Amino acid sequence: MTIKSSNIVWHNSTITRTDREKLHQHKGVVLWFTGLSGSGKSTLAHAVETYLHKINISTYVLDGDNVRHGLCGDLGFSDQDRVENIRRIGEVAKLLTEAGIITLTAFISPFKIDRDNARKCLPHGDFLEIYCHCPIETCEQRDVKGLYKKARAGEIPLFTGIGSPYEPPTRPELIINTEKLTIEESIEEVIKLLKEKNLI
Ligand code: ADX
Repeated sequence: MTIKSSNIVWHNSTITRTDREKLHQHKGVVLWFTGLSGSGKSTLAHAVETYLHKINISTYVLDGDNVRHGLCGDLGFSDQDRVENIRRIGEVAKLLTEAGIITLTAFISPFKIDRDNARKCLPHGDFLEIYCHCPIETCEQRDVKGLYKKARAGEIPLFTGIGSPYEPPTRPELIINTEKLTIEESIEEVIKLLKEKNLI
């Protein structure tokens, strides 16, 4: 992205990320959940947030459907709009991480390059990509929001997995098989990862 504004000067904070992390008594990090619609990203992100909140960890979930009601309400589902959606979320996640918070993002984020760019916004190790792996057939069977049915009927032309591609991560920090694992088992996997990385 090229910066359009001119005459802008960066102001360094007096309070640093380390100061904020000390206050929270844990590090900030981004847990980036990616996967098809209906793969369980939001359910898992919110469940992990509940778990972490109960052990006094400061968290925030950025959820695709919610963020598209506000911050990204001007965006649709063309490739270009999805790129911009993920760019904004990458930037917000970076700000929240600097605030010393564990940020959980739940976006389809279908394009590998956009996820990689979001990763590059953050210092090495602060972006953990979690692939919610679930075959499209299962997502379609679940069809929690009734969107697959609409997409098959031609009512949603650019639906991910049908009229628009999904590029699976090649080297995510974690793959959760949400078809096979229970929600409790999935939470456990994420918590194990956080413990292995000494984040909690
Ligand atoms: S992303 O591709 O830009 O990352 P995002 O996660 O914000 O997508 O939004 C996906 C959610 O929007 C889906 O869970 C679904 O509820 C809804 N949605 C509406 N239209 C589409 C579409 N064409 N493709 C995918 N999801 C859609």
